[in-house]
Amino acid sequence: MNMNWFDDVEFIRKQAKLNNTFFSESLPMIASENVLSPYCKEMLISDFHGRYAEGTPGHRYYEGCKYFDAVEIKAIELAKKLFNCNYADVRPTAGTTANMAILKALIKPGETATVLDLANGAHISFGKWGAAAVRGINLVSYPFNDEEMNIDVDGAVKLIKKVKPTLALNGRSVFLFPSPIKELAQAAHDVGAYLVYDAAHVLGLIGGKQFQDPLREGADVMSGSTHKTLPGPQGGMIVSDHKGDTPEDKSFLNKLNYGVFPGVTSSYHLHHVAAKAIAYAEHLEFGEEYAKQTIKNAQAFAQALHELGFNVFGEKLGFTKSHQVLVNIGPGKGRDTAKLLEQAGIVTNMNTVPGDMDPLNPSGLRLGTPELTRIGMKESEMKDIAVFYKRVILDKEKPSEIKKDIKMFRRDYQTLHYCFKDDFKGYSFHTLVK
Ligand SMILES: Cc1ncc(COP(=O)(O)O)c(C=O)c1O
Repeated sequence: MNMNWFDDVEFIRKQAKLNNTFFSESLPMIASENVLSPYCKEMLISDFHGRYAEGTPGHRYYEGCKYFDAVEIKAIELAKKLFNCNYADVRPTAGTTANMAILKALIKPGETATVLDLANGAHISFGKWGAAAVRGINLVSYPFNDEEMNIDVDGAVKLIKKVKPTLALNGRSVFLFPSPIKELAQAAHDVGAYLVYDAAHVLGLIGGKQFQDPLREGADVMSGSTHKTLPGPQGGMIVSDHKGDTPEDKSFLNKLNYGVFPGVTSSYHLHHVAAKAIAYAEHLEFGEEYAKQTIKNAQAFAQALHELGFNVFGEKLGFTKSHQVLVNIGPGKGRDTAKLLEQAGIVTNMNTVPGDMDPLNPSGLRLGTPELTRIGMKESEMKDIAVFYKRVILDKEKPSEIKKDIKMFRRDYQTLHYCFKDDFKGYSFHTLVK
């Protein structure tokens, strides 16, 4: 028997505690991260966690799913309401899993898909080293307009018409401005292809009706992560507005369904599905206001950085229409700058910018406002935070000194907003989540 088991357990618990303290004293600005509401958290420690439920409600390979079936039916109903659509699958365990399910369903090995290049902000799951590679797909990249930080619409339409892909994919990890979906979808449909919109980053902005509306603009299917601008548990989802009212359309939805199970899931983290349902309910209530403020904060932050002398992308178009800001720090300087910011208590990530060839030594920082917005910050706080960036990066002040000021600054922002209040109704496990 390992006599040190208690030390080992304590070690892990201590790291979690230190991590909690670190983040509560810092400025978390990673665009893909967020914090979970108390009601969502509660589901993560419920008994759903340990259970299996392969299949769909009423059609299970396991018994014991009576209460979970009710949860999944409710989650699907809320997801359809949130995205105003006919079909929702809440089972994918991540945005990447959702993308893999779609690729499994709609394209065969060796066939062609059109994509954005990684250097221009695409995500690895539609890249040649990620899920698309697992499926053995031939990838052809859209041209990109650096000044508008967007897919070059005329070039992309020409490309789709020329290569006649099976799928036209839109997936963007750097996502400052809405994609030209209407035009891409029209071109895709003209050559018999489906348009797939990966909304991993912007799902909550779309659900909050503050970005574009891909399903109305012509996207056949939309995937997403449920833990970024949609502040739910880590997970993924798929929605579509196809109705399944013709044999062909029914087959399309059936393929999506089989793509998820048995395609890329077995049991699918039932506690996360329950938490997704709560996140959808919260987003239906608060999503519009939250998404609006998140974008306003990103715009105010970008403007403030620009005025302080930073090189912020997208100036011509107002810097951003999303939750993200992309800054060019200088050739290959992204990594060291992100590390320096961390020492000062600002958590960010290095990122490639157009023209970067080496993803390990990129020139940019991608900055996001979802978490700061959730803890109650508004435009004026964004201006204060831009000054912290100036002190670290331009004025080269000692990070440890700035860290003290950031800790003080954070003291007034320790409460979650845009979610149901922490007034639990007395289930036996509720105290554990405090
Ligand atoms: C465009 C895009 N797609 C998919 C993903 C993957 O999402 P997940 O981390 O939920 O697997 C990301 C992650 O940031 C992303 O940016």
